[in-house]
Amino acid sequence: MEHNYSVKNKNILLRPLYEKDIELLRNWRNDKNNARFLRQIPFITHEAQKQWYEKYLNNNDEICFAIEEREELNRLVGSLSLYNFKGDTAEFGKILIGDKEAHGRKIGYNATVAALKIAFDDLNLKRVVLEVYENNLAAKRIYEKTGFIFKGVLREDEIGKVLFYYK
Ligand SMILES: CC(C)(COP(=O)(O)OP(=O)(O)OC[C@H]1O[C@@H](n2cnc3c(N)ncnc32)[C@H](O)[C@@H]1OP(=O)(O)O)[C@@H](O)C(=O)NCCC(=O)NCCS
Repeated sequence: MEHNYSVKNKNILLRPLYEKDIELLRNWRNDKNNARFLRQIPFITHEAQKQWYEKYLNNNDEICFAIEEREELNRLVGSLSLYNFKGDTAEFGKILIGDKEAHGRKIGYNATVAALKIAFDDLNLKRVVLEVYENNLAAKRIYEKTGFIFKGVLREDEIGKVLFYYK
């Protein structure tokens, strides 16, 4: 969805995703190590990525953000989304800090805090939910620190949980 939301939080800037960003995102998403805790999808070609972006711009059910590091690296380092809007609830996810130099700088945490600020202050949501794999320790740490509350295991045959956040 085209939007104008943007928030600065410590070393990161959350801003709309532009077409110039999508090739980097494609490379990061195609990296097996980066994607091991994300939905499993086939290799994304240049063409498929362009089609995805065009479809995304017309999709009112997803707000995608580019994450820039603004203190040392000064460049795009990843992305995240708010999506699946249902009344006053939305899902947070698809977060990927793809730039390897960006890891361990609290970028994931600061970007999550910034996304929640937009969710509650700008979009007036009352609740944000997310799913995370039980063994994704870095992501779980971020969500616990942010204040997400464990709600329950999703399905017995999958390793995963759903967490709820209340304002
Ligand atoms: C998960 C991810 C977003 C984290 O981003 P990041 O910017 O590197 O993380 P941060 O620096 O904000 O902090 C991560 C926290 O987890 C901790 N952590 C990192 N690796 C860890 C590990 N293997 N075990 C336990 N804790 C770990 C860090 O110490 C830090 O906690 P702290 O602030 O208490 O020190 C990033 O690694 C990523 O993009 N992963 C691939 C995609 C993914 O898994 N997305 C999440 C889908 S739910």
